[in-house]
Amino acid sequence: MGNDIILEMKNICKSFPGVVALNNVSLSIKRGEVHALCGENGAGKSTLMKILYGIYRADSGEIWINGEKRNITSPVKAQENGLSIIFQEFNLVDTLSVAENIFLGRLKTTKSGKIDWKSIEKDAAELMLHIGCDIDPKTPVGSLSVSQKQMVEIAKALSYNAEIIVMDEPSATLTDREMENLYRIIQELKEKKITIIYISHKMDEIFKITDRVTVLRDGVVICTLDTCKTCREEIVSNMVGRCLGQEYPKRENYSGEKVLEVKNINRKGVLNDVSFCLHRGEVLGIAGLVGAGRTELVRAIFGADRISSGKVFVNGKEVRIKSPIDAIRNGIALLTEDRKQQGLILNNTVKENISITNLKDIVKFGLLMNSKENNIAKEYVDRLSVKTSSINQKCINLSGGNQQKVVLAKWLYSNADILILDEPTRGIDVGAKQEIYHIINELVKMGKAVIMISSEIPEVLALSDRILVMHKGRITREFKNESRNVTPEQVMNCAIG
Ligand SMILES: Nc1ncnc2c1ncn2[C@@H]1O[C@H](COP(=O)(O)OP(=O)(O)OP(=O)(O)O)[C@@H](O)[C@H]1O
Ligand SMILES: [Mg+2]
Repeated sequence: MGNDIILEMKNICKSFPGVVALNNVSLSIKRGEVHALCGENGAGKSTLMKILYGIYRADSGEIWINGEKRNITSPVKAQENGLSIIFQEFNLVDTLSVAENIFLGRLKTTKSGKIDWKSIEKDAAELMLHIGCDIDPKTPVGSLSVSQKQMVEIAKALSYNAEIIVMDEPSATLTDREMENLYRIIQELKEKKITIIYISHKMDEIFKITDRVTVLRDGVVICTLDTCKTCREEIVSNMVGRCLGQEYPKRENYSGEKVLEVKNINRKGVLNDVSFCLHRGEVLGIAGLVGAGRTELVRAIFGADRISSGKVFVNGKEVRIKSPIDAIRNGIALLTEDRKQQGLILNNTVKENISITNLKDIVKFGLLMNSKENNIAKEYVDRLSVKTSSINQKCINLSGGNQQKVVLAKWLYSNADILILDEPTRGIDVGAKQEIYHIINELVKMGKAVIMISSEIPEVLALSDRILVMHKGRITREFKNESRNVTPEQVMNCAIG
């Protein structure tokens, strides 16, 4: 690798109304390295990369590529300069096919000037296959799962044959197998001397695939470290500016009476005779590989998908949940996996998004009590350390991780007794994750019941009092975990089936 510098960003400054997102940031990237960018939610990682890709203009600063100063004023200019990016928020058009999305704006034509669908679809299929994903390129993107969409983003970024590829939290939504595929692709790209800037909150993968790490905090570069010469603690303490205590906070067991019982739920081809119960004061973890039916199960309970047979009891009474509204009326809340689609009204403010699930609490005699709404929003913004210039900021202007914190705040504030959290810590930085663990602990202490799905097995094991393992739409095993003695191997064995 040597000291061949491919990219330098020098003294970059960028402010938005009320926030200094980047303050004199300089970054130097070597040819062929995988360079991690780390930092808490809102530290400025995505903004820096959007400036590099010509989406935002820096207020000041310079970009040098291959020893020459470049003026990158648009994504097209960025592509001409050998750059490509996988966005944190998907940038795909739902109504178009996979192939159309990959080659959007540069569809090949035949000699007679017609669009050459055959060749486009063939190229798309090859790209998808190369990244280990066998989706038909004719499929409309709108019908794909979150992780499949991410694979399309990756294929698209690769299709530009760029010299430098920026990946903004590419693995946040991927399954284990897809993640392994991504790591393999990164290795192959590296062998071809392609440079990768990799944004991630996952320490494991930073150590697995990156050569160097740059840490940003509050828009300032704190340090650049050789990955092989540093450790998790050093990176984390540079990110948060303090030492973090124990990763998973301890908690007593408060398990009480049954609040939810599910009996023999079926949904054709997806859920097979699923029965379980949930108790007040309990955290119930649901583990399993992607496709095992975890999300489908909680969507069915929440009334988002129809069930073909089965019964649901809340507080001992049978309930018919035909829609999410029925579920909310019965005190059930669902934090969805796909937050962008289902979680937030992006053009509304932080405050409005938090209060929406519990308007009853802030409306008196038909009037909205502004000061109460403000106080509640402020309380949650503080508790989850949501980084925003004010509670009146529109959610669309928050960083990815901070948008997720707002979704979480909204459901925490709802007066639901049963909280179903599907991947609650995805894309959330280490400090805020701990805060979420504390909040989950507090919720069960208050007598609420929590169902948690997470692809991070250590997290499920550390937080859950009981764990259900799913495989192919069935519950294959239940573990009691009061003393936190279940091991990842035990869970994995059952998850594989
Ligand atoms: N278009 C915008 N308008 C106003 N503020 C913005 C805008 N884009 C980003 N910001 C602010 O700039 C800061 C940096 O955001 P950025 O998205 O770069 O963070 P990040 O490090 O990528 O965080 P995450 O890990 O959550 O993705 C945040 O405070 C954010 O609210
Ligand atoms: Mg970001």
